[in-house]
Amino acid sequence: KKILVAYSGGLDTSVIVHWLKANYNNPEIIAMNADVGQDEDFDALEDKALKSGAAKLYVEDLREEFLTDFVWQALKANAKYDGNYLMGTAYARPLMSKRMVEIAHEEGCDAIAHGCTGKGNDQVRFELGIREFDPNITIIAPWREWDLKSREDEFQYAESHGIPLKFTREEGYSEDENLFHISHEGLDLEDPTNKPDYDNLLSVSVAPQKAPDTETKVSVSFEKGIPTAVDGEKLDPIPLMQKLNKIGGENAVGLLDIVENRLVGMKSRGVYETPGGEVLYHAHNKLEEMTIDRDTFHFKQHVAIKYGELVYNGLWYSPLRKSLQAFVDYTQENVTGTVEMELYKGNIIDVSVTSPYTLYSEELASFEEDDIYEQNDAEGFIKLFGLGQTTRVIAEQSWKEE
Ligand code: ARG
Ligand code: SIN
Repeated sequence: KKILVAYSGGLDTSVIVHWLKANYNNPEIIAMNADVGQDEDFDALEDKALKSGAAKLYVEDLREEFLTDFVWQALKANAKYDGNYLMGTAYARPLMSKRMVEIAHEEGCDAIAHGCTGKGNDQVRFELGIREFDPNITIIAPWREWDLKSREDEFQYAESHGIPLKFTREEGYSEDENLFHISHEGLDLEDPTNKPDYDNLLSVSVAPQKAPDTETKVSVSFEKGIPTAVDGEKLDPIPLMQKLNKIGGENAVGLLDIVENRLVGMKSRGVYETPGGEVLYHAHNKLEEMTIDRDTFHFKQHVAIKYGELVYNGLWYSPLRKSLQAFVDYTQENVTGTVEMELYKGNIIDVSVTSPYTLYSEELASFEEDDIYEQNDAEGFIKLFGLGQTTRVIAEQSWKEE
């Protein structure tokens, strides 16, 4: 027996490697860690995986693919979930799943195991992602099988079996980090009357109160909806994201404290840091204001909600997400240009938008004299636009008189 474990080195997956060996007849464990830009010492991680009982650890650099094939695609759609959640975790899971299946096949694994609880979204995202590439492989989710009931039980299991952990109970928020975001859930955050202890919680950002007293200027340029440069400097996806994360984080941009609707039915409270992502979404939307016609712009807002639901619910590979993508991609043909902003204590202040494809006409919109717009035309337009209303009001009056 050989089992591939999606391995992060956190509490769940550390315990799982040991537990699988003890409960699945001592299988060979192949651990895989996806590098999606989290802050991680991969040598130490390998050491830890081997000490926990894995035969080897694959570290897969998925960072660029994560940005270009997932995050950028969703950015073009302005996809969000429950209002403002930018879904950093939901983009990583389908990509990781794909790579997990590839390695499981190469290694001849009989099963894939993951450390998600039976209460969350990630189990769904991983398993739908795995099923897309192998509809039959056995999936093991220890959280849905073992008799450990809580994180406290896991800590006790780890301690009694000598499994090394890199943090204590008190620091043990449930977190997921990648190039796009970091999530924080659990502990004191589970009570929505608690204000997050930002000084202790945040890792790539500061609280607005701690941000500089002067604004930081930043500009982002896009080509067909894809970010290509920061402050006029062309950058590849990874350094571009890193640069925006740094500037955004220093200015407390992209913090979100939300009670969200999990797919499995409960509401759960989370705090997210998405500094660069917030800047990108804001800038992209500003550019679309100028470059996309009204009807498409409005329809796209509906698509963004549906697209967000699909991604959040683990349906990245679904025909509907791909069909919506085809629509979105067509809309991005002219979403090219540059957006200048100032970041200041958690706010994004707009400075300017320029695009070779702008649909904005200053002459047309101006309160000053112009040569193209006939104000008289509006009279007939309003008469016809309101014809149905006029007809109805006259009818209603006549019924009253009867
Ligand atoms: N609630 C967020 C989501 O569903 C974040 C999940 C983070 N996952 C984790 N294993 N800590 O996208
Ligand atoms: C988990 O339950 O494993 C993490 C949170 C989530 O998946 O929503």
